[in-house]
Amino acid sequence: MKILVTGGTGYIGSHTVVELQAKGFEVVIVDNLSNSSSDIVEKISEISGIIPKLEIFDLTNKDLVADFFSRNNDIVGIIHFAAYKAVGESVNKPLLYYRNNIESLINVMEGMQTNGIENIVFSSSCTVYGQPDVLPVNEQAPIKIAESPYGNTKQISEEIIQDTVKSSNINAIALRYFNPIGAHETALIGELPLGVPNNLMPFITQTAIGIRKCLSVFGDDYPTPDGTAIRDYIHVVDLAKAHVIAIDRMISKNMKDDLEIFNLGTGNGYSVLEVINSFERVSGLKLNYQIVGRREGDIIQVWADPTYSNEELGWKAEMGIDEMTNSAWNWEQFLSKKK
Ligand code: NAD
Ligand code: WQD
Repeated sequence: MKILVTGGTGYIGSHTVVELQAKGFEVVIVDNLSNSSSDIVEKISEISGIIPKLEIFDLTNKDLVADFFSRNNDIVGIIHFAAYKAVGESVNKPLLYYRNNIESLINVMEGMQTNGIENIVFSSSCTVYGQPDVLPVNEQAPIKIAESPYGNTKQISEEIIQDTVKSSNINAIALRYFNPIGAHETALIGELPLGVPNNLMPFITQTAIGIRKCLSVFGDDYPTPDGTAIRDYIHVVDLAKAHVIAIDRMISKNMKDDLEIFNLGTGNGYSVLEVINSFERVSGLKLNYQIVGRREGDIIQVWADPTYSNEELGWKAEMGIDEMTNSAWNWEQFLSKKK
C-alpha cells in the first residue's frame, strides 16, 4: 500500500518513513528540500534496507502537485508534514508562512479530491492550546488565539481540514504534537537545525559539543517547582509510530468520525532544568548554562493528557526523558564526526 509522505526528508517525516517501511508500507516522499537534504533517503535505506522514492518539488506549485497525483493514482493515504516551523521567523515573515503552510495543504487536499484519495494525517501542534487553563490538556480544551503566524497556520489548517471533510469523502486525523526531541537509535537520522537553534534540545547538544558557548535558560521565576518552564517532551520515534497507527486506522476504516484529533505527548512535564539534569546524567558532562530573562511569547507550562490517544489508538509513548536526551546526544556526536 502506497503512502505519500510530504516533508518526508525532514526531522519527523524521516523517522516516520522508517516506521512505515517497517510495517510494510510503500513510501513516496515529496519534499522541496527547503529544510532537509536528499541524502536522507540513503540514511533511511541504511536503517530499513529500502530506498524510499523521493520527488523534489514545491507543494505550493499547484500544477506540479496535480501532475504528481495524476502519475500516482495508487496512493491510499497521505501524511502531510511539509511546512515551515520556525516560530520567530513566522513573526517576521508571516506571509511566507501563510503561503507555504496553507497553500501546500490546499493543493494536497485538492489533489486528494480530484483523485479520490480519502485519507490524510495532518501534523498539528500543542501550540493550538496556548497556555491551557487546565492541565494536563486534553483534546476538548479550547483553542486559544495563536501566539504566532506559525501557530495560526496550524489552527487555520485544522479548520480547512474540518470544512473539507464535511463536504467530501476525505477523512482526516490531526495529530497535535507536544515537544518532539531525540533521534533514531542508529544516529543515522535526526534533527538538522539551520543556524542557531531556537529549540532547547539542539541548543543543549550544540553547547555540549562546543558549537555554542553557553545555553541561556529563559527564566527561573515561573510559578513551577524549580522556577523554569515545563513542557511535555516526546521521543521522535514514539511520535513516528503513532503516525503509522493513525494511517492504518484510516485505511482499515476504524475511525469514529470523519475528523479525529489526538494529542501526542507522554503525559509527563519536565522543566528546563530537569532536561539539563537528564542530559548531564546520560552524557556524563557538565553543561555550561546561565539563567537569563524570560523569552517573549513562552508559556509557563503545558503537558498532555494522552488518555484518548492511548485508548483509541492503542498507542503509548514508551521512551523516557533519559532515552530522549541520550539519543539526541548520540546524534550530535554523529554529526560532529561527519564534519
Ligand atoms: P522539518 O522542517 O524537519 O520537516 C519539514 C519538511 O517539509 C522539510 O524537509 C522541508 O524541506 C519540507 N517542506 C517545507 N515546505 C515545503 C513545501 N512547500 N513543499 C515541499 N516540501 C516542503 O520539520 P519537522 O520538525 O519534521 O516538522 C514536521 C511537521 O510537524 C511540520 O508541519 C511542523 O509544523 C509540525 N510540528 C513540528 C514540531 C516540532 O517541534 N518539530 C512540533 C509540532 C508540529
Ligand atoms: C522549550 C523550553 C524555552 C531554548 C516550540 C514551538 C511549538 C512547537 C515546539 C511546533 C521553553 C526553553 C529554549 C533555549 C531555553 N513547534 N528554552 N533556552 O517553545 O515549547 O515550542 O517548539 O509546533 O510551536 O513554539 O519549545 O524547545 O523552543 O523550548 O531555556 O535556548 O526551553 O523557554 O521553556 P517550545 P522550545
